[in-house]
Amino acid sequence: MEEVAPPANSRHIIMLPFMAQGHLIPFLELAIQILHHNPIFTISIVNSPLNINYLRSAISNRPSPPTQIHLISLPFHSSDHGLPPNSENTDGLAFNQIIKLFYASTALQSPFCGFISDIIAKEGTVPLCIISDSFMSWANEVARSFGTVNYTFTTCGAYGTAAYASVWLNLPHRNLADGGNHDEFSVPGFPESCRFSVMQLHPYLRAADGEDEWSRFFQHQISLSLHSDGWLCNTVEDIEAFGLEVLRNYIKLPVWCIGPLLPSKMLKGNTGSDTGLVGSRSGKRPGVEPEKCIEWLDSHPPRSVLYISFGSQNTISETQMMELARGLEESKTPFIWVIRPPIGFDPKGEFRTEWLPLGFEDRIGKQGLVVHKWAPQLEILCHRSTGAFLSHCGWNSVLESLSQGVPLIGWPLAAEQGYNVKMLVEEMGVCVVLTSGVHSRIEKEDVRRVIEVVLNRTEDGKGEVMRRKASELGERIRASVEIEKGCSYKAMKDFVSTILSRFQ
Ligand SMILES: *[C@@H]1O[C@H](CO)[C@@H](O)[C@H](O)[C@H]1NC(C)=O
Ligand SMILES: *[C@@H]1O[C@H](CO)[C@@H](O)[C@H](O)[C@H]1NC(C)=O
Repeated sequence: MEEVAPPANSRHIIMLPFMAQGHLIPFLELAIQILHHNPIFTISIVNSPLNINYLRSAISNRPSPPTQIHLISLPFHSSDHGLPPNSENTDGLAFNQIIKLFYASTALQSPFCGFISDIIAKEGTVPLCIISDSFMSWANEVARSFGTVNYTFTTCGAYGTAAYASVWLNLPHRNLADGGNHDEFSVPGFPESCRFSVMQLHPYLRAADGEDEWSRFFQHQISLSLHSDGWLCNTVEDIEAFGLEVLRNYIKLPVWCIGPLLPSKMLKGNTGSDTGLVGSRSGKRPGVEPEKCIEWLDSHPPRSVLYISFGSQNTISETQMMELARGLEESKTPFIWVIRPPIGFDPKGEFRTEWLPLGFEDRIGKQGLVVHKWAPQLEILCHRSTGAFLSHCGWNSVLESLSQGVPLIGWPLAAEQGYNVKMLVEEMGVCVVLTSGVHSRIEKEDVRRVIEVVLNRTEDGKGEVMRRKASELGERIRASVEIEKGCSYKAMKDFVSTILSRFQ
């Protein structure tokens, strides 16, 4: 490789998100926040064509999107990797195809190198730094080969990231004696007293032995991410003290907590105050008009409504859906339910009424609002009538909920969601678990019970305690972005000056 000048005067930051909505949007938000701190940078976000289109529509929804953000599409053909045509994102992919997408994502490496070479040819210097997703850590090697610095960005929280990394790298549950009746194990990096349960692990992780395709992919990418110059984490120092201590001890790298990467409108003022329309983060068209949704919420008392959504790429099983519907109906609790076809059916297909109890939608009348595919989630969580969120507990949903002081009912389905729920229950006390995964059996009574707890209808008043803790976390989250004073503001300032120090 020919000698190129060090990034003596480059102000060009390259970002490489993983190919999933829950990763693309936080990267876009990160780019916006960095420019907010210092507008001198140029930021190129690089991905496959459809994801770049998607980011383009997401950014066009912003008021005055920064012109320093360049969206760069690299050639990618999903059918070269055994995926259906135009599959460039985990959205809508069946579970067994998701691992194919993970492997396919590494095919971006060669066009990515070409892109960096082009920049060097055009600008006469290597980019200032490369910030890559923790699932795309091969980009660290690319950064090194071109002589620039590499940072890893984890879109998850600190606790979830630490558990995810350590469980994949060590597979600690493999050491449990076969046939033993205890299913608990400890995770390297976490205190011995912090027990994890095999039952909470996703079946593919339970079965992982280091040789399977999941282990091989994650162990490789995680190992590379441990050799970066530092990590950015989408969390708040003041709400995740324990998770951060574990993460920092485990990875032994600097971690900047620059979260929550949420639209600034959500972080202003008090919860429950009318924020007006926050707007869609994803650029997706909701299955109900935001105005109609707000009007519906307006007609309910404060903190009375249960909001239900399993995120952008998850759904539950047909039998679970049926019991959830029965439980909701019997609880007589007002609800907004974002519904998708159950597991095993085309996630983009028509919804069939037979998946819900006979006459359900007619009978619930005013009690509930069933929304197909997408809901204006931010407007719902910001509304004072929303009392709790039944969620898969993906990290973006968790931050959105906590920032508004809304306690959760946890139903983790994949990725690091089970660890998030464990932390929300044990460390934060803002969550009650309904079940986990798509193979578990739930009864309508279970649904009713957790709703009564979280909405403070039990005699022990547990719901009120959860709500109070969630409000406190919401206050800390909102305080973290305060100019000069907030911990996330300071972390971002420090990160920006660290990368700038390279040319001063
Ligand atoms: C990331 O860059 C550092 C130097 O800045 C280097 O030591 C490290 O090996 C790089 N990481 C990888 C995975 O190549
Ligand atoms: C929560 O429930 C407890 C026990 O029933 C009750 O004493 C308390 O007033 C309730 N709190 C609110 C805010 O309704």
